[in-house]
Amino acid sequence: MRTVILLLSLATILSGCATQQQTVYQQLGGSDKVAEIVDNFVTEIEYDPIILGYFEGSDIDRFKKKLTEQICVLTGGPCQYSGDTMEQVHQGMNITEGHFNRTVDLLIKAMDKAEVSHPMQNQVLKVLAPTRKDMLYQ
Ligand code: HEM
Repeated sequence: MRTVILLLSLATILSGCATQQQTVYQQLGGSDKVAEIVDNFVTEIEYDPIILGYFEGSDIDRFKKKLTEQICVLTGGPCQYSGDTMEQVHQGMNITEGHFNRTVDLLIKAMDKAEVSHPMQNQVLKVLAPTRKDMLYQ
C-alpha cells in the first residue's frame, strides 16, 4: 500500500513537472489550435466594419500566415517569424487605443470560439501585450 502511495505521489510530481515544462504553444494545442484562432480572428475582423476598414487592400492570406507565425513564436512554438516588424506594418495607420482594444476583443472572441480556456487566453494576451506599444499612434 505504501509503495502504491509513493508511486502515485511520484507520478503526480512528475506530471506536474511535465506540465510546467510545456510551452504556452503546446498547452494551447499547437499548430492546429493556432490556425483555428487565426481563422476565427479573421472572420471576426470581417464582421467588424471599423476594424475591417484598416484591412482595405491588405493581403489577408499573408496576414494570416504572418500572424500565425508570430503567435507561434511568441508562445514558444517551433516557428520563425518572417514578417515585417510591428512598427513597420502598422506605420501610418494611426491606431487609437480604442481601436486597439476593439481588435483585442475580436481576438478574445476568436479564442472563445476556438474553446481556448480563459487562463490560456490570458497567457496568449500576456505574450502579445509587449507588441502594443509598437502599434499605437504610429
Ligand atoms: C495584438 C495586436 C496585433 C498583432 C499581434 C498584430 C500583428 C500583425 C501581423 C503579424 C501582421 C502581418 C505582418 C506582415 O505582413 O509582415 C499585421 C498586419 C496588419 N495589422 Fe496588425 N496586429 C495587431 C493589432 C492590429 C490592430 C489593432 C490593427 C488595426 C486596428 C491592425 C491592423 C493591421 C493591418 C491593416 C495589417 C495588414 C497590413 C498590410 O496589409 O500591409 N493590427 N498585424
